Amino acid sequence: MACFIAFEGGDGSGKSTQARSLLRRLRRRGVKVIRTHEPGGTPLGQSLRRLLKSGDSMTPMSELMLFEAARAQLVQQVIRPFLDQGGVVIADRFTSSTMAYQGYGRGLDRELIERLNREATGGLEPDLTVFLDLPVETALARKGRGNRDNFDDAPVDFHRRIHRGYAALAAADPGGWLVLDGQRPPEEISREIWAKVQTII
Ligand code: ADP
Ligand code: TYD
Repeated sequence: MACFIAFEGGDGSGKSTQARSLLRRLRRRGVKVIRTHEPGGTPLGQSLRRLLKSGDSMTPMSELMLFEAARAQLVQQVIRPFLDQGGVVIADRFTSSTMAYQGYGRGLDRELIERLNREATGGLEPDLTVFLDLPVETALARKGRGNRDNFDDAPVDFHRRIHRGYAALAAADPGGWLVLDGQRPPEEISREIWAKVQTII
């Protein structure tokens, strides 16, 4: 059965760890499943990813448009076709990332972002969004020194606004979001996600 699950949270919150763990569990059971990671996942998306993460000065509005362009391409070329074939898609970041980072973080108009998210995705929304919730400092410390980008290096206040944004989005739609304490051991978190996913697949 087609199903669309998104993982959201700040940098270093454990999204990729959990998205991969869920991917493995589903694959072991023979489920047709893919994992996407935004921005990226298409040739255009990969080019945009390099630009977005390069640290070259970019206005918040330009940044917003590029994330949406990458997403429009990913939804049309990868996510929508896979769901239409009855597959399960695990998205490591989706529309709520833009609301949290460009809306709450950068301070861009949230109604505009809602509209662009809707246009870029053709109205596609996750069946479930998993939010890994943990203190900003703990998450950022996990990223360590290597492989950092301009988002990881942004002031901690920026990351705090993003965290508050995610909390507000989750509170506004408790049925659609699963909020988990991201400070617990990865295996525990993974078991809780699995329990929830089994109820919707
Ligand atoms: P994200 O995709 O949200 O940036 P990652 O899954 O890449 O986060 O995790 C960031 C770092 O934290 C990695 O080194 C990972 O091994 C570690 N990590 C992930 N989940 C946990 C956890 N529950 N507890 C402690 N460390 C974790
Ligand atoms: P990435 O290395 O993929 O980080 P992560 O593993 O945490 O997803 O970098 C993507 C960065 O882009 C990350 O800091 C979040 C940011 N981002 C936005 O600002 N807006 C968006 O719409 C998306 C999808 C990501």
